[in-house]
Amino acid sequence: MRLEGKVVIVTGAARGIGEAIVEACVREGAKVAALDLDGGGAEKVATALRGRGADVIALAADVTRSSEISRAFEAVRARWGRVDVLVNNAGGFAVIRATEEISEEEWNAIVASNLTSVFLCSKTVLPIMKGQRYGRIVNLASVVGRAGAVRVTSHYAAAKAGVIGFTRHLALEVGAHGITVNAVAPGTTATERVLKARTPEETQRVAEAIPVKRLGEPGEIAEAVVFLASDSAAFINGATLDVNGGQVMV
Ligand SMILES: NC(=O)c1ccc[n+]([C@@H]2O[C@H](COP(=O)([O-])OP(=O)(O)OC[C@H]3O[C@@H](n4cnc5c(N)ncnc54)[C@H](O)[C@@H]3O)[C@@H](O)[C@H]2O)c1
Repeated sequence: MRLEGKVVIVTGAARGIGEAIVEACVREGAKVAALDLDGGGAEKVATALRGRGADVIALAADVTRSSEISRAFEAVRARWGRVDVLVNNAGGFAVIRATEEISEEEWNAIVASNLTSVFLCSKTVLPIMKGQRYGRIVNLASVVGRAGAVRVTSHYAAAKAGVIGFTRHLALEVGAHGITVNAVAPGTTATERVLKARTPEETQRVAEAIPVKRLGEPGEIAEAVVFLASDSAAFINGATLDVNGGQVMV
């Protein structure tokens, strides 16, 4: 098992890719804190896994609010005494809009949930990881942060490109403390949110444009996260791993 005994925090864990990451970490032997704005959804994920003997807790918190993040991470440390892995997965967008139709308020909200959240959660966990002289931070970027080839929406593309830049810089800053920081950039992945954002015909067109002729599955993104969180990836730092079926190649 690749994460035996490790303590992992996964944000945005109530559904989609985050839920798949929680399941994959549990399968690899980790103790997992499933954190989400939707505390009830996170509790459902945790309860199902506890029923199979896993050590999983649910935490309700908004990752755009530092006070809620501190409270949640403190609860993890109180329970397990450390935090080995932080997976900054919370984020996404709901509606595809032309740039001139994006309000300033919506721009700020998307940047807050996709980029500022990664800064705030990393900032909160770093003193813990530095104290341990060990840590793994894995950030969820996106294919749209890697290249302009996929049409989504500009605030989200800007935020995810920011996640990649932040990942590189933090990797440079904290590598000497035994902490690695990497990103996974998924291509279009079949979660409920993404399927709802387009008509079935539009989704079909997206799938046809991907060399492997299908969308990704949440579990396939989770596999890449587990790898980067594991000691097999100890010498990988500041990287962005594309998991996209060839949707963009950089
Ligand atoms: N699905 C895709 O095609 C795709 C592609 C590239 C990148 N991604 C990225 O992967 C991640 C997961 O995507 P998904 O499709 O599983 O999304 P999703 O909407 O299915 O799940 C996201 C979860 O994050 C939670 N969340 C959102 N804002 C939050 C906040 N402020 N505080 C705490 N929790 C919050 C939501 O409640 C939800 O449970 C996102 O960062 C997304 O941008 C997804």
